[in-house]
Amino acid sequence: MKKENKVTLCIDKSFTVGKVDKRIYGSFIEHLGRAVYEGIYQPGNKFADENGFRKDVIELVKEIDVPIVRYPGGNFVSAFRWEDSVGPVEERPARLEPAWGVVESNRFGLDEFMNWCKKVGSEPMYAINLGTRGIEDAKNVVEYCNIEKGTYYSDLRIKHGVKDPYKIKLWCLGNEMDGPWQIGHMTPEEYGLKAGRAGHLMKMIDPEIECVVCGSSGIGMPKFGEWERVVLENSYDNVDYISLHTYYDNEEDNTPNFLASNVSMDKFIESVVSICDCVKATKRSDKTINLSFDEWNVWYHSKKKDAELEKWTEHPHQLEEDYNLEDALLVGSMMITLLRHADRVKIACLAQLVNVLSPITTTDNGVFKQTIFYPFMQSSRYGRGEVLNTIVKVPTYESKHGDAPYVDSVVISDEENGALTVFAVNKNLEDDFELTCDLRQFSDYKVEFHSVLTHKDVKAGNTENNPDEVKLSDNTSTAVNDNGVLKTTLPARSWNVIRLKV
Ligand code: AHR
Repeated sequence: MKKENKVTLCIDKSFTVGKVDKRIYGSFIEHLGRAVYEGIYQPGNKFADENGFRKDVIELVKEIDVPIVRYPGGNFVSAFRWEDSVGPVEERPARLEPAWGVVESNRFGLDEFMNWCKKVGSEPMYAINLGTRGIEDAKNVVEYCNIEKGTYYSDLRIKHGVKDPYKIKLWCLGNEMDGPWQIGHMTPEEYGLKAGRAGHLMKMIDPEIECVVCGSSGIGMPKFGEWERVVLENSYDNVDYISLHTYYDNEEDNTPNFLASNVSMDKFIESVVSICDCVKATKRSDKTINLSFDEWNVWYHSKKKDAELEKWTEHPHQLEEDYNLEDALLVGSMMITLLRHADRVKIACLAQLVNVLSPITTTDNGVFKQTIFYPFMQSSRYGRGEVLNTIVKVPTYESKHGDAPYVDSVVISDEENGALTVFAVNKNLEDDFELTCDLRQFSDYKVEFHSVLTHKDVKAGNTENNPDEVKLSDNTSTAVNDNGVLKTTLPARSWNVIRLKV
């Protein structure tokens, strides 16, 4: 190991960033490609239960432990009529779905989704259509979902066999309304007013709900910054969170640059926080708007194939990414970025969950885990508690995103359960790094495990026939020495979880 390949983590029990809101381990199911049909729902498949839900998928979703699932889109939502998706299945209309150029059968809809959420133990995050529709429709769907009985839409739900209201807490006010590709996209003034009015009316129906207003579809959007400011100025009192979306790619095949992408994500988050607080100040408001990073991931492998797809078919193989190790490393780093902003990022959704840009892929014969499954699953399972303000002393390298640390890392303390967790990504493609962390304040803690995801080939991935090409292994030499210092080696190109317990 080169002598400069050292990373030191400095932590102090009382210096915390904030408590992890478990909703940052959320994900996303859109009516897109095979996410719903052949993903979570496939009646007739040998793994389907009595509702047509894939049991093998349910098991993996439970393994990740996904607290919230955003639904039903995405771009899909901007031309969607929610009423088409409820009631007797045989009476539901098939529709042209313009966002993705397919036919939507509506065989799976709102009620089926809510039932599925119950099965996997997730809460819904329901997006309304502010593209082709208005605030009246927004009101109606809240009434259908959240009002007990005695009104047109609540009684309609009961007629559909659902006695108790769903009490959906979290609502997205449209999707990516700044994007020219979005059906019904708007100027920030138009959208801010419309979203504010929708939130106002929806909260009149159910004051308990929380609303997410659309921020920019990415930091690279031409109106980024101005969009957030104007939207918030026009909707502030009726919304609770602002959304951020980002997808990274390695089209240029430059792995160091690609792995540094979360440096941009940091800037994105910090910029949006500043804008929220600037609007708060100009409004002399006591209310703080927090962040919902409700689409994030790597997306590029499938784009060429998708461009050649025939139009107006049902649930084609669309946006199906074959993820490799470097994608998993970036997903791990992005997760670390989200955690390091736990004070303001309260919601995040890995986009998406099954088949589409996803950690889980289904075939007719079963499921397999994409490489990105591992950092997402392990963050969700072990990353609960207080994020410690982790100072990472480590050499950096130049990248197109700015100077990037060779090792990204964060420490989370869960005193209630006597657990301390270190997440770390070594982005150096050739060299191992030695990690040390003084744990004298945590003198009762011993290493429970150190789990590593790595491979000699950063482009290696998993397939149906070779589902374990990239998988977790254990580093059994990690330990806390007599001086209370945690010492270990982070292999080149690796995602690491070091779990300590009292
Ligand atoms: O997640 C895929 C798509 O990416 C979503 O539909 C859209 O919101 C974003 O552009």
